[in-house]
Amino acid sequence: MFIYDDILMRLVEDNDFDIKYLVDLRSHSDIWMNVGNIKMLNTYIEEKWLKKMMDDDSQNYYIICSVKDNCNIGLIRTDQIEFINKSIRVGCDIHPIFHGMGYGFKSMCMIKKYFFDYYNMNRIWLMVMEKNTRALNLYKKAGFIEEGRQRSAIFRDGEYQDYIMMSILRSDYGLLK
Ligand SMILES: CC(C)(COP(=O)(O)OP(=O)(O)OC[C@H]1O[C@@H](n2cnc3c(N)ncnc32)[C@H](O)[C@@H]1OP(=O)(O)O)[C@@H](O)C(=O)NCCC(=O)NCCS
Repeated sequence: MFIYDDILMRLVEDNDFDIKYLVDLRSHSDIWMNVGNIKMLNTYIEEKWLKKMMDDDSQNYYIICSVKDNCNIGLIRTDQIEFINKSIRVGCDIHPIFHGMGYGFKSMCMIKKYFFDYYNMNRIWLMVMEKNTRALNLYKKAGFIEEGRQRSAIFRDGEYQDYIMMSILRSDYGLLK
């Protein structure tokens, strides 16, 4: 596990407790509507997917926990890790009961600390839908910069949205410290 301030990230376990937590989190409409994959989940699908993911070194799921309250707060997703280019894609979902309490920002700080200062990455990037204002604001506040857009790449709620690519480089991170 990696501790940052009063939160930590730990790898998801292949057990009923974590699987149920992931299904509940990802199925909440507030999360589900804002992530790239709109496919519905149940425990069976999640368990199968998780097992496959655990055998794949290029991606990971981490649960974010409050150290103080000893409870789960949300999820960090990583994939497309490239050790030669030192680049990784991340995503962050906070459970709606904890929205607006600063956990999203703190989780992005933890992501930067872990992947720049320990994993030795040079670039952390992510994709966000153009109408996801909360996430866009969060990523900008965390120092991410728009790199480009996949035009009308996501169909959601009856319309197409741009899918925005954002990143932060180690050099940007150095300036923030
Ligand atoms: C996006 C998300 C991670 C933000 O987490 P959070 O813990 O609520 O965010 P924080 O409380 O740390 O707020 C950090 C910043 O995010 C932005 N933000 C948060 N809530 C916002 C809102 N309701 N409206 C606009 N901006 C908002 C602000 O810039 C805020 O900084 P500020 O408080 O100084 O204004 C969370 O809303 C979430 O999980 N949403 C659903 C899933 C999702 O969209 N995931 C990202 C997919 S790319």
